[in-house]
Amino acid sequence: MNLKGRSFLTLKDYSRDEIEYLLNLAKELKDKKRKGILGDSLKGKNIALIFKKPSTRTRCSFTIGCIDEGGHPEYLGSDDIQLGNKESIEDTARVLGRMFDGIQFRGFSHESVEKLAKYSNVPVWNGLTDSYHPTQILADFLTLKEQFGKLEGLKLVYVGDGRNNVANSLLIGSTKMGIDITILSPKSLWPQGELIDVCKKYAIASGSKVEITDNLEAVEGADVIYTDVWCSMGEEDLAADRIKILKPYQVNDELLSKTGKAHTIVLHCLPAVKGNEITYEVFERFSNVIFDQAENRMHTIKAIMVATLGNK
Ligand code: CP
Ligand code: NVA
Repeated sequence: MNLKGRSFLTLKDYSRDEIEYLLNLAKELKDKKRKGILGDSLKGKNIALIFKKPSTRTRCSFTIGCIDEGGHPEYLGSDDIQLGNKESIEDTARVLGRMFDGIQFRGFSHESVEKLAKYSNVPVWNGLTDSYHPTQILADFLTLKEQFGKLEGLKLVYVGDGRNNVANSLLIGSTKMGIDITILSPKSLWPQGELIDVCKKYAIASGSKVEITDNLEAVEGADVIYTDVWCSMGEEDLAADRIKILKPYQVNDELLSKTGKAHTIVLHCLPAVKGNEITYEVFERFSNVIFDQAENRMHTIKAIMVATLGNK
């Protein structure tokens, strides 16, 4: 599989086999790191890390992943560069593309990361936009493979804000990989119809099922319940309204009892607001797998960089 030179903006651009390849590579890199074996695939490569929103996991994963493979990461925060303010994205992209070998971008509009990829002429990796969070989903899927030994045929129910970046990317990734996905949220927070239509086509190809519902009983049979914050970065003003409409969709013991399965696991991309989207008790009970999921950000992000930019 040759992914050299490719950007990673959304999972829409990657086939099932390519996603599988990245997951296998991540597992290989994780196993090697456990044994103390690091690579030099990014030796001589300079990687720009543009963050217009804060980050713990994504920033640290790109930084450590890059250094583990012998590359040099450079953090460029909102106050450090003028991207999109005093300098256009097109111009910043052309400058960075002449100095760096790859660029990670976390920001607001998805158009920004698309422009960056178009004008920089180097691989650009989406570390989260308002619309998508594709690197997160690779970590989620690696975690599911570790837990269940497979992806195909699992039932994953995402509960909460069904039209945020994580929900959108889970919908894309799950339908590509043959995971049955349910988006469980109030109607006002359902994913856009256009995205649902695209994902239904992926689901036909992979043999998975897609369900978008506001009925809590839909968690029945879930192998995985997944949640995320009720207000994404930049939406803090909407907190009061979101808490009101999402309260019935909290991941708590009552909801979990509705799955009817003893082995259901709970995932959370983090950071978590305990007491809102998930109770403290449920979070702590599933903390081992949730922090495996967080650790897997690093191995999967390293795999993306190695696959698209690495020397071998
Ligand atoms: N899950 C995730 O993207 O975490 P950060 O915001 O800390 O990067
Ligand atoms: N939906 C969340 C994800 C954080 C990783 C946000 O955008 O803030």
